[in-house]
Amino acid sequence: MIVESRIPLVAAPMAGGPSTPELAAAVSGAGALGFLAGAMLTEDRLVEQIARVRSLTDEPFGVNLFVPSDRRDVDLDDYRSRVAETAGRYGAEPGSADWDDDSYPAKVQRLVDERIPVVSFTFGLPEASTVEQLHAVGSEVVVTVTTADEARQAARVGADAVCVQGMEAGGHRGVFHDDPEMPGGGPLLGLLPAIRSVRAAVDLPVIAAGGLVHGADVAAVLTAGAVAAQLGTAFLVCDEAGTAQAQRTQMAEGQRQTDITRAFSGRPARGLVNRFMLDNTDAPAAYPQVNNLTKPMRGAAGKAGDAEAISMWAGQSYAHARPMPAADLVGLLRREAREALQAVTGRL
Ligand SMILES: Cc1cc2nc3c(=O)[nH]c(=O)nc-3n(C[C@H](O)[C@H](O)[C@H](O)COP(=O)(O)O)c2cc1C
Repeated sequence: MIVESRIPLVAAPMAGGPSTPELAAAVSGAGALGFLAGAMLTEDRLVEQIARVRSLTDEPFGVNLFVPSDRRDVDLDDYRSRVAETAGRYGAEPGSADWDDDSYPAKVQRLVDERIPVVSFTFGLPEASTVEQLHAVGSEVVVTVTTADEARQAARVGADAVCVQGMEAGGHRGVFHDDPEMPGGGPLLGLLPAIRSVRAAVDLPVIAAGGLVHGADVAAVLTAGAVAAQLGTAFLVCDEAGTAQAQRTQMAEGQRQTDITRAFSGRPARGLVNRFMLDNTDAPAAYPQVNNLTKPMRGAAGKAGDAEAISMWAGQSYAHARPMPAADLVGLLRREAREALQAVTGRL
């Protein structure tokens, strides 16, 4: 696998702005694996971003897609009025709560045409035929999982590796089916127990994600058997990331808790706690309808520089993220991981 032949660090795909071609290219150029986020942008924009990465580096990189959601028919009338109230404070209206597939089939085809070195999926299981199409053009396929059962399903469709996401992780949880009865959409396993149970269930390389910001954290998951560590939040504050200034400011202040919420998107995601999250702890499980509904509100609050009604996805260790160029972060994490391993080896 490509990821096994690189520095064992992956910069997580981060849809909605933070992932940029410059970030992906800097990470891959530094010897790790950079990623583009293929969700929430048009297929043409995605292809442009791929071309931009290729103009910046010859190194391998990955592209991630969201598998379309199965929660289509959810009554959102009540939630629409709640969103309308907050949106109104910023002079905005709720968006229309439509389901969409984020152009998934067309994007898959573009990725096949583009022969992307690594393609990863989250929010569900790709069809076995999709995995075959990608394999036929030489792409490696990674599926994000949160439980051993999801890992078994990923193995059955032919995934080359799984990205095991712990409940510490920033951003959306990769649960295949969002169970409305559960705050996390499914069992909330911490990263180490998740790695342990997935490794007991399937014989696939594991990429570990969730709450890792320091090289010692990377060393911890490598010793737990992961082939690489995937970090999102740590790269959110890098110079090349497209992270909104309001979020960077809140992260630097480090005063907010993180929690898992459906309030902004209708799918469980971890972010910095703000007023809108606290007021909507019972938000419905309906992605992407709720995401479309809150979009104008988030945009208007962001323009007003108000952090209380924007989503600020970040993992539990966000307060320890260190702003710097991405290539420097790759080097630093690597040195710290080596030092951490050397420091404990003598004690065991
Ligand atoms: C702002 C943000 C956006 C994210 N977007 C995506 C995405 O588009 N696709 C994906 O597979 N994971 C996404 N994730 C989750 C990451 O892949 C990964 O699981 C997570 O960042 C790991 O936890 P950490 O943020 O504590 O490092 C996102 C995470 C963050 C913080």
